[in-house]
Amino acid sequence: MKIFEIVFSATGRTQKVVDIISSVFTEEKQKIDLSEYNTENKIYNLSEDDFCIVAVPVYGGRVPTPAANRLRNINGNGAKALLVAVYGNRAVDDCLLELKNILVEQGFKCTSAISAVAEHSMMPQFATGRPDDKDKEELEKFAMQIKEKLENNTLPDSIEVPGNFPYVKASSMPLKIKVNKNCIKCGKCAKRCPVEAIPFDDPSRTDNKKCITCMRCIDECPQHARSLPPTLMSAVSKAMKSKFEGRKENILYI
Ligand SMILES: Cc1cc2nc3c(=O)[nH]c(=O)nc-3n(C[C@H](O)[C@H](O)[C@H](O)COP(=O)(O)O)c2cc1C
Repeated sequence: MKIFEIVFSATGRTQKVVDIISSVFTEEKQKIDLSEYNTENKIYNLSEDDFCIVAVPVYGGRVPTPAANRLRNINGNGAKALLVAVYGNRAVDDCLLELKNILVEQGFKCTSAISAVAEHSMMPQFATGRPDDKDKEELEKFAMQIKEKLENNTLPDSIEVPGNFPYVKASSMPLKIKVNKNCIKCGKCAKRCPVEAIPFDDPSRTDNKKCITCMRCIDECPQHARSLPPTLMSAVSKAMKSKFEGRKENILYI
């Protein structure tokens, strides 16, 4: 059996959750990084002997568009999948259902799923520091249960996950990234952007039509030259505060 980690993680929080889950499986792992722009046109063919941890962050209650597109280049051929949706303490909405439907279409068996909380990448004042020790313990327990069923061959071929179809409408992001004079045009952001929204010949610009506001360029800019407009961010955060209240839980679907 081969284990695959198929992950979209713009700022590393989804990957952090995957690392916890994956640590329970001792087999060697192969990675397919859906957040790399160069996976855009690569075709992968898996087999029914493979077990795949397929993880995405929740964006506006949905699977991030580039992750959905790149998953459509992976043929499951009966591979077993554990679906993971990582969310920033608001809600998963239809993300797990959309992920399941894509994977079923691609020939995967959706054997289990986890929704897990991680610090909000755009508003880190929500779910700050998560996944924390309590999450780690819980996620390891979930992974142990899945591993046991995988080894005993008792994982179901299909599981029910929450969500509705038609999915919640993908919202166009009103927040546009600003670049200040500290930008030295080093191009790190352009190289790392998952959707090539930053021109290599002028990294001080951003193509707002392509940008998915994934926060990677802001996180990784060595000059801290990129940001979202702070006044607008604080207004959005205030307006949405009630939706983020309380410690939201991690859930296992098996
Ligand atoms: C554009 C965008 C949209 C998001 N939408 C949601 C959402 O609908 N619900 C939620 O709880 N968290 C939402 N989040 C938070 C992320 O799902 C969460 O922080 C995730 O851990 C980020 O993963 P990453 O670090 O792997 O990119 C959103 C974050 C971004 C950047």
